Amino acid sequence: MRVLIAQTAQDVAKIAADNVLEGLVAHGAGTTPVLGLATGSSPLGLYGELARAVKEGRADFSRAQGFALDEYIGIPDTHELSYRQTLINEVCQVIGLPEQDLHTPQGIADSVQAIEAAARDYDQAIATAGGIHVQILGIGSNGHLGFNEPGSALRSRTRIKRLAAKTRQDNARFFDGIEHVPTHCVTQGLGTILEAGRLVLVATGAGKAEAVTACVEGPLTASCPASVLQLHPDAVLVLDEEAAAGL
Ligand code: GLP
Repeated sequence: MRVLIAQTAQDVAKIAADNVLEGLVAHGAGTTPVLGLATGSSPLGLYGELARAVKEGRADFSRAQGFALDEYIGIPDTHELSYRQTLINEVCQVIGLPEQDLHTPQGIADSVQAIEAAARDYDQAIATAGGIHVQILGIGSNGHLGFNEPGSALRSRTRIKRLAAKTRQDNARFFDGIEHVPTHCVTQGLGTILEAGRLVLVATGAGKAEAVTACVEGPLTASCPASVLQLHPDAVLVLDEEAAAGL
């Protein structure tokens, strides 16, 4: 695991974007770029830097494939708070990734079984695309990756998960009160995430310090799902000094 600590938000974004672009070359040169996408505030600066690279002719996502990490259950695709819509607004329209090439787990269906089947198909779609070359990640304040909450199996696949109380509290800021935050989601599994060629995790702010310390220096444990990064041969963490304070 490489841990890079930057002083400003701008530097965090730039270093993370450079590592994404370099990872796409290292793991996907000569093929259609396949990018794993995270929602959340952490990677927004990174997406801005990728957009700058596109403008400057250093990158092109017009023929890329994007795979989201996760999606809420029960929120229609077209709803502004769905992760699909969020990624369309915050990533597709910013870096020029065509909407039809953005894949998101299916969070609405007639039955739980249908959502489970779609989750299995999602892993298959990633494999068919040739695997994710670079997976962009944030980290939850409880150490979650995607929506793999503490207790998630280290080799898990894309599946339904119940959201932890802490995650629902953290994400309530986007909804009209915590009672409107979904209780379940579909998330790429930790095993799915580990199959990406490179992982680039961005964490900033004191609220992430404890989770970052557990991820980097703690034991490999399902109690801190992000500790699986220790197993990955090409994981890069880009942190600001506050998030790195416990290291
Ligand atoms: C959400 C997402 C995660 C994200 C995390 C941190 O719960 N499912 O993928 O990494 O929150 O979000 P933020 O970057 O806004 O702190």
